[in-house]
Amino acid sequence: MKEQAALYFTMQPPSFDVISDEWTNEVHIGDCLEIMRAMPSESVDLIVTSPPYADARRHTYGGVSPEKYVEWFTERAEEMIRLLKPSGSFVLNIKEKAVDGQRHTYVLDLILSLNREVGFRWIEEYIWHKTTAAPGKWKYRFRDSWERILHFSKTPNLKMRQDAVKVPIGNWTRARLRNMSDNDRTRQQSSTNSRIGRRISAWEGKDMVYPSNVLHRSPVAHNTGHSAAFPEWLPEFFINLFTDEGDVVLDPFSGSGTTFRVASRLGRVPIGIEINPEYVQCRS
Ligand SMILES: C[S@@+](CC[C@H](N)C(=O)[O-])C[C@H]1O[C@@H](n2cnc3c(N)ncnc32)[C@H](O)[C@@H]1O
Repeated sequence: MKEQAALYFTMQPPSFDVISDEWTNEVHIGDCLEIMRAMPSESVDLIVTSPPYADARRHTYGGVSPEKYVEWFTERAEEMIRLLKPSGSFVLNIKEKAVDGQRHTYVLDLILSLNREVGFRWIEEYIWHKTTAAPGKWKYRFRDSWERILHFSKTPNLKMRQDAVKVPIGNWTRARLRNMSDNDRTRQQSSTNSRIGRRISAWEGKDMVYPSNVLHRSPVAHNTGHSAAFPEWLPEFFINLFTDEGDVVLDPFSGSGTTFRVASRLGRVPIGIEINPEYVQCRS
């Protein structure tokens, strides 16, 4: 048996490092660039994070000017891609701010850099529609009710547990299923010639379906003493989607530790990194 195992590993060495206890179940205090540089390659299954949105909150936890943001983030992203296992995912919640009356392009530039310079595959963009965004009045825009949640992977063979995030089928879909035409019962080409085939009746009798890439959710977070804490559903959705129990989840901009807490509750192995020690106090 031992010989067989030895032969197996000679032919097919493990493709990732097992991360040691000194890293896990801990929020490390410091710049995530330095801390990630010390961590072993291909040891993390999922990175889910929300970095400073440039310097939008410079009065609370600082930040980086929009002009320098892409360079600043790209350096850290080089470490993130190194840390991810080949099956791993990187989930980035971010939104551009307005500068001089127009939306700055640093998020768009960052997407290009992550894809073209760092080598991440850009798998999807989820829209987080904030269902309870406060009303307001601005000169040339309406209230901001959505944020980007960008999903990147390291390779084409990523881990994805779609069944773990199914949602109730909803009233619209139920009504649509009640009024099916003959076309709905056979696989149809789209009437708009979009080449998207579909068979609506496949969902008849089902209570739960896969969600869309628009997540209609509240921004309300636990009262953590952090001005930009995640609502718990956000890391929870992506942890369930991209990891199994026992997998390693890293948040390199950990803040009050929402990702850390949720990962731990879901039986994953959490690692946090946060530059401001005050926030680490308010994690439990
Ligand atoms: C948007 S907040 C994250 C909030 C977090 N998602 C939560 O639920 O509390 C971004 C955090 O990144 C931290 N930060 C900024 N630069 C950092 C760096 N270079 N390394 C590690 N943390 C950093 C800030 O102090 C801030 O707490």
